Amino acid sequence: MGMPEVVESMHPRIAWGITGAGHFLEPCLNILLELDQVDIFISNAAKEVLANYGLLKRLEQSGRHLFWDTGFSSRPVTKLYRGYYQAAVIAPVTSNTIAKMVNGISDNLVTNLFAHAGKCQIPTLILPCDIKPEMNSLTPLGESVQVHVRKVDLDNIDCLASWTGVEVARDPEDLKLQLRTFSHDRKYEL
Ligand SMILES: Cc1cc2nc3c(=O)[nH]c(=O)nc-3n(C[C@H](O)[C@H](O)[C@H](O)COP(=O)(O)O)c2cc1C
Repeated sequence: MGMPEVVESMHPRIAWGITGAGHFLEPCLNILLELDQVDIFISNAAKEVLANYGLLKRLEQSGRHLFWDTGFSSRPVTKLYRGYYQAAVIAPVTSNTIAKMVNGISDNLVTNLFAHAGKCQIPTLILPCDIKPEMNSLTPLGESVQVHVRKVDLDNIDCLASWTGVEVARDPEDLKLQLRTFSHDRKYEL
């Protein structure tokens, strides 16, 4: 497969992946639903976790193009090769998907989005949820629980941050800031 053609558009179209992380989920949804030119790629766990947090209907009623993980070969991802997307954002990212990303595993819709964005040299921005050693997270029932993030998860994120073409956001505010740069400066850096 060759390099993607650049699609001329006023705003870059973003392929946005969501994984099954409750942490940062609602702020990520708020950010992505502010964007017009965005298609959404949803892992099977993300579908369940969105439902757990009462957010699935909001996504379904958003009018955005939603890709569910229904097949084995992740066909929607082939759109990357046709120059349809100028950027990929995956947020929030579970520690599971982070581990797959760093090891080059592409066995579902979102890990395929990440792998093939890399193969198409499409800039990719990720927001991992396990980003610092200690944090509090809200359960679907609204209880705050403490999370002691493992070293392996922090090491995986550090490794991904050193990859060319991959940017790591530290929190939803940082994601928002980095998205602005993405939308303006890096539009045609393929
Ligand atoms: C309510 C709920 C919230 C979850 N939140 C997180 C989370 O914040 N971070 C995480 O790494 N996994 C979380 N998980 C576990 C993931 O959903 C699970 O590891 C899943 O296999 C990830 O699949 P994916 O990476 O393909 O989306 C959560 C699970 C549930 C049921």
